[in-house]
Amino acid sequence: MGLEERRDREPDVYQPAEDSELLAEAACERLGGSDLVLEVGTGSGYVAGRIADGTSARVIASDLNPHAVRQARREGVETVRADLVSPFRDETFDAVVFNPPYLPTDPENEWDDWMEHALSGGEDGRAVIDPFLDNVGRVLAPDGVVYLLVSSLTGVDGVVERAGEAGFSAVAVADESFPFETLTVLELLR
Ligand SMILES: C[S@@+](CC[C@H](N)C(=O)[O-])C[C@H]1O[C@@H](n2cnc3c(N)ncnc32)[C@H](O)[C@@H]1O
Repeated sequence: MGLEERRDREPDVYQPAEDSELLAEAACERLGGSDLVLEVGTGSGYVAGRIADGTSARVIASDLNPHAVRQARREGVETVRADLVSPFRDETFDAVVFNPPYLPTDPENEWDDWMEHALSGGEDGRAVIDPFLDNVGRVLAPDGVVYLLVSSLTGVDGVVERAGEAGFSAVAVADESFPFETLTVLELLR
């Protein structure tokens, strides 16, 4: 389903935007041979739905936000409410994709609602990215791959360095520039 075609929107759910599109496109081009894919933080279910439609993979999705879980399920995506990868078994997925909350946010400006959880990456932009990198290796099959969307506002080099500490080598496989940021999709392999 295209970005403009979605009607059934939950107000407290991040709706697909340019970052969602970039990640979906990069993942679909590369996940042809995958059997089981996890999308963490699925929001509306758009990226998971694109991968399910564009590849032969079975796609499971997770989100912390119960409104997102509801919307993604309505879109036909198998979705569980979860914090990152916590409920999933070891070495389960051929691939994991994530468009994380990444905006660096002054603590005084943070607002405490579901859209904050979708957008804010805390003071350094990595409050969700770092624990994701620390934990995603557990649920990946030995030759599994991660596609992670990162913004220049968060700092791509810092994320690549942190991914290295978690045992991954990173390659940029797609990017797109906008007036205030450049979005990059990193491919992480062990
Ligand atoms: C930038 S939005 C991306 C939504 C969707 N994947 C897309 O690309 O359009 C980030 C999503 O991550 C979810 N999220 C934030 N923290 C999370 C966590 N700890 N575990 C699971 N999901 C989380 C948010 O609720 C939100 O839906």
